[in-house]
Amino acid sequence: MATASESKATRRDFLYIATGAVGAVGVAGAAWPLIHQLNPDASVLALASIRFDVSSVAEGSSVTILWRGLPVFVRHRTAAEIEEARAVPLSDLKDPESDEERVLEGHEEWLIMVANCTHLGCVPVGESGDFDGWFCPCHGSHYDTSGRIRRGPAPANLVVPPYQFVSDTVVEIG
Ligand code: FES
Repeated sequence: MATASESKATRRDFLYIATGAVGAVGVAGAAWPLIHQLNPDASVLALASIRFDVSSVAEGSSVTILWRGLPVFVRHRTAAEIEEARAVPLSDLKDPESDEERVLEGHEEWLIMVANCTHLGCVPVGESGDFDGWFCPCHGSHYDTSGRIRRGPAPANLVVPPYQFVSDTVVEIG
């Protein structure tokens, strides 16, 4: 038979548990709109990857497009530019990376890179500098025809974003 004190304790335990449960549900309920708000909305998700038809970019020229708010160079390289990039020994490079690693096999003429200097983020100027690639006028970094840092304060090569060709002429970045 339960004594009065045992029965009181049981009732008290129940109240503690019930209050805790209601509190937990309340916290979860209050947190949900906040967590939901932190998820990217549909317009942001749509920008996570972009498609670009490269057929309008003539050999020897570049365009700059926007991806996730970043400028991205799409360069249609000439055979001479590719040859020049591939002739460089890796031992000459501050950030050793072969040209083959920076482009897609079968699409070697397309060089796609985030257009921010890896020093402090300025946008380098194309077809200039001492290595026929890009020159960053902010503090004098020179990149070659593969977008690799060759001289100046930038510590690394221009960044190649993830991308793939989804048809002969359409590239998907992101
Ligand atoms: S930002 Fe390009 S060299 Fe400094």
